[in-house]
Amino acid sequence: MKFRPTLLVFGLALTAAVVTTAQAEGNVAEGKIRAYTCHGCHGIESYRNAFPNYAVPKLGGQNAKYLENALKAYASGERSHPTMFSQASGMTDQARADLAAFLAGEPTQRSGQVVGTPPAATQTCVACHGADGAQTVSDEYPKLAGQYADYIVQALKDYKSGKRKNPVMAGIIGAVEEKDFEAIARFFAQQPGLCTTNVIAKNGKCN
Ligand code: HEC
Ligand code: HEC
Repeated sequence: MKFRPTLLVFGLALTAAVVTTAQAEGNVAEGKIRAYTCHGCHGIESYRNAFPNYAVPKLGGQNAKYLENALKAYASGERSHPTMFSQASGMTDQARADLAAFLAGEPTQRSGQVVGTPPAATQTCVACHGADGAQTVSDEYPKLAGQYADYIVQALKDYKSGKRKNPVMAGIIGAVEEKDFEAIARFFAQQPGLCTTNVIAKNGKCN
């Protein structure tokens, strides 16, 4: 009986070790090569998703862990999008990690100043996404700063309708009114932050 707690702790440590070694370490140079096909959509400012109509999201400077999770979600169908399914399905953990490492880029200089007045509806958002939408609390939470406003609106609609099924955002979105989506999106879009993939390919960072 005496040994039980020790065994338990040992068991947990072992599990943690296995999980850690299973994580692929991203290689920026490999990611740059793999990202070649992504620029056709994510590297062009004016490129839009057709139905419904919204800008293809900026990926440059985005958090690496969030990018990996998003690619996994497209591959598994948790996030349903035909184009991104064909891009993401069949990707290995290593491919996702390489792409994420490249797309995240080097940390950029930020003023730490919030541009404009945050709408009241963003009060709950900043706890995770940061006051400026750039300084996220976790690498698993996406940066919203500088993202296209109409993409942000679309994402919020998709959480509201249940098309995007993330449990964290599902718990948040119920309390957010659709009439506030535009103002929320405009506020985060005007903060300095994310960039298109061709900028990250050229500079290694967004500014
Ligand atoms: C034919 C156009 C196209 C190509 C090529 C493409 N994407 Fe996308 N991507 C999209 C669209 C459209 C969306 C938005 C989908 C949605 O609403 O969920 C998207 C969304 C994403 C997202 C989610 C972003 C977020 O903020 O949640 C990631 C990550 C992503 N793409 C990565 C990639 C990578 C990596 C490649 C290259 C291997 C790539 N995409 C190639 C069109 C494309
Ligand atoms: C408890 C933490 C938390 C809070 C609070 C929160 N979010 Fe999120 N948010 C997340 C996580 C985690 C994701 C990634 C979900 C996924 O993978 O779909 C996310 C994703 C998003 C996305 C999708 C971004 C993209 O690139 O596709 C938008 C837009 C967003 N949140 C807006 C908001 C807004 C607006 C609020 C406030 C009303 C808010 N969030 C509050 C954790 C949070």
